Amino acid sequence: MCADKRQDPHFGTKLIHVGQNPSQWAYKDVIPPISLSTVYNQPSPGVIEDFEYTRTGNPIRSVLEKCLASLDHAEYALTYSSGMAATTSMVNLLVPGDHLLSSVDIYGGTHRYLAKVAIKAGILCSFIDFADPETVASHLQPNTKVVWFEAITNPLMRVIDVKLLCDAVHKVRPEVLVVVDNSFVTPYFQRPLLLGVDIVMYSVSKYMNGHSDCLMGSLVTNNKEVYDKLYFLQCTTGSVPSSFDCYLVNRGLKTLHLRMERHMSNALAVARYLEVHPKVLKVNYTGLESHPQYKLANSQFTGHCGMISFYINGGLKESTAFLEALKMFCITCSLGGFESLAALPCKMTHTSLSQKERLSVGILDNLIRLSVGLETIEDIISDLEQGFVASGAKDK
Ligand SMILES: Cc1ncc(COP(=O)(O)O)c(C=O)c1O
Repeated sequence: MCADKRQDPHFGTKLIHVGQNPSQWAYKDVIPPISLSTVYNQPSPGVIEDFEYTRTGNPIRSVLEKCLASLDHAEYALTYSSGMAATTSMVNLLVPGDHLLSSVDIYGGTHRYLAKVAIKAGILCSFIDFADPETVASHLQPNTKVVWFEAITNPLMRVIDVKLLCDAVHKVRPEVLVVVDNSFVTPYFQRPLLLGVDIVMYSVSKYMNGHSDCLMGSLVTNNKEVYDKLYFLQCTTGSVPSSFDCYLVNRGLKTLHLRMERHMSNALAVARYLEVHPKVLKVNYTGLESHPQYKLANSQFTGHCGMISFYINGGLKESTAFLEALKMFCITCSLGGFESLAALPCKMTHTSLSQKERLSVGILDNLIRLSVGLETIEDIISDLEQGFVASGAKDK
């Protein structure tokens, strides 16, 4: 299904080797050591050899940032204490009166931050449907500085045509920064900088780390001016990840390519099972031929992640009963770990949207989101099946 020729042939090697050269360490460690020191000795006052203070830089963070940049064919990567810290740092590039144009169909926490917090700092945010790139371009205002969207919308799994969107925005306003949250797709399946995006944001807490044991965010870019400003903000605001978390992510990253392949094959099997299930009204998965943007998804991505959403035949009672009955899937709001997770967006990830906003984008009470993990596929499907039986949902 994925066009292998569009895959970066060196991806697996970069994950394992970029930034990790043992010769940089005193003991030639093959696995980069965790430096817990917050301070680094200066040979003479004001002479900084490698690192000064861990907020401004740290050996293992530097290893990780080099590796992350290479995955997106980027010059620069910066890491943060969470995905939201990366987002807030990016928004800190703006000044009061600046406008940020966002897709309406984004992670609820990002929507909450933009609509309830950034606005207090005088950043004017508006939310529109990003389906048509020309419509997005027509909503640019003279003070628009950032266009923000997610490569696959959450939780409806709609695909944004990244290249057309960047072209449409930059044709009218070349200086506007187009920023994509690529957390669902990962650089393994899509490298947005090559499609015209200015900054890629990741909630590294998801697939990039992949083990649901640490929070982290990153921003990657090829724009030196933007990088310098972001680096200044990273040092100044201090929302940096700990050395230990950098170690965990650097370790988790080593298997990203293998994990994504299995997430894809498991998710495709689940999507096909759901698609013909009598208690399921509709399935949203970018790897299904029935997805309205299947062609676009396949031309833009080299594969598909493990994220699926579907409408169970019923309402809140049936969707809740289904989730409560799951034995192996955990009910939780996150995604991208090796374990299968399930969520009810209307009650969990998207409560910051009003009911009217939720209805307008299709986040109904019977919409269930799955993050399909790496377990044996037969066990994943049998857990879902017993969930359907217990849900009380009727056959359609
Ligand atoms: C698509 C997306 N972007 C950003 C975030 C925020 O990331 P973090 O939880 O690492 O702060 C999340 C969290 O769920 C997310 O799903």
